[in-house]
Amino acid sequence: RWPEFVQIKEVGPRDGLQNEKQRISTADKVHWINTLSESGVKEIEYSSFVHPKWVPALSDAHEVGRRIRRNPDVRYSALIPNMKGLELALEAGIDGASVFMSASETHNRKNINKTINETYPVLQEVIQEAKNAGKHVTGYVSTVFDCPYEGKITPEQVTRVCERLAEFGVDDISLGDTIGTAVPSQVDQLLDEVLEQFPHEKVIMHFHDTRGMAIANIMRSMEYGITRFDSSIGGLGGCPYAPGAAGNVATNDVLYLLNGLGIDTGMDEKKLQEAALFIQSKLGKTLPSKSLAYAASQ
Ligand code: HMG
Ligand code: MG
Repeated sequence: RWPEFVQIKEVGPRDGLQNEKQRISTADKVHWINTLSESGVKEIEYSSFVHPKWVPALSDAHEVGRRIRRNPDVRYSALIPNMKGLELALEAGIDGASVFMSASETHNRKNINKTINETYPVLQEVIQEAKNAGKHVTGYVSTVFDCPYEGKITPEQVTRVCERLAEFGVDDISLGDTIGTAVPSQVDQLLDEVLEQFPHEKVIMHFHDTRGMAIANIMRSMEYGITRFDSSIGGLGGCPYAPGAAGNVATNDVLYLLNGLGIDTGMDEKKLQEAALFIQSKLGKTLPSKSLAYAASQ
């Protein structure tokens, strides 16, 4: 019933930190990412090469990329909005480029200052250039269930965007529940459509846990054969251009679930806990993950 192996992408250093008011020094980010690199995780999204005015918390992406210690077993990726971002990311060093856009017209405009149609040629060029440079490319689609501005988004709106990204050459797509509203029946409706177009190995689910539904949605996704999930250590994070969005599902909670189900992730819970407690102390607040809170109290 359950997959034998699930691959987690740690997005804490990008999605997690992008919305944090408390600034983390570059040296602390580097130490933290180096610790995460030893946790057995297969991919880390280490930062974001967006405009520094739009996301000041990640304005040191270049330096972080230059300074982290690269574990050959980890794919280091970063979020890239346009060619300027790609150029900087290639200089800093990436194995993977994560391009992103939204299934909702309004969220797309608020987040990247373009309509959906204006975004396609920008991403097409980034995807092609990243592929020419030998990089893995993931295409994020945001607001795949609900948009904070427009409400319900239909599976057809999502598949339309996915089709274009696939045509431009992305290796896989990550479907974002940006504001964490979905329940498993919505996962059914979306995956029934998306898996008509894409094999399940190419689909990653990216759940924010605003309403505590992410674990239920991950369970449902695994019933569809999905084996790749994005998560953020301790449950850190949220999109600065999606009001009310809380953090990603916590890597610690996902790992607790998968370990309990007997699903291999290759990850070390203790190392993950060490990384979570480090960033928690630097942020000066308790992170939302319940598994982390319990483990830390023992
Ligand atoms: P814009 O103002 O429309 O950009 O912003 P522009 O192309 O008109 O350029 C304006 C100036 O910015 C120019 O400088 C460019 O060089 C510069 P000037 O010539 O005036 O001196 N510029 C840049 N500088 C540094 N790095 C760059 C860059 N690009 C242009 N990459 C832009 C458009 C996309 C840049 C802006 O809207 C932006 O940075 N948006 C990012 C917002 C963001 O990061 N949101 C959060 C991430 S998405 C997310 O969290 C969702 C996800 O997790 C999935 C989910 O949960 O659903 C992925
Ligand atoms: Mg996100």
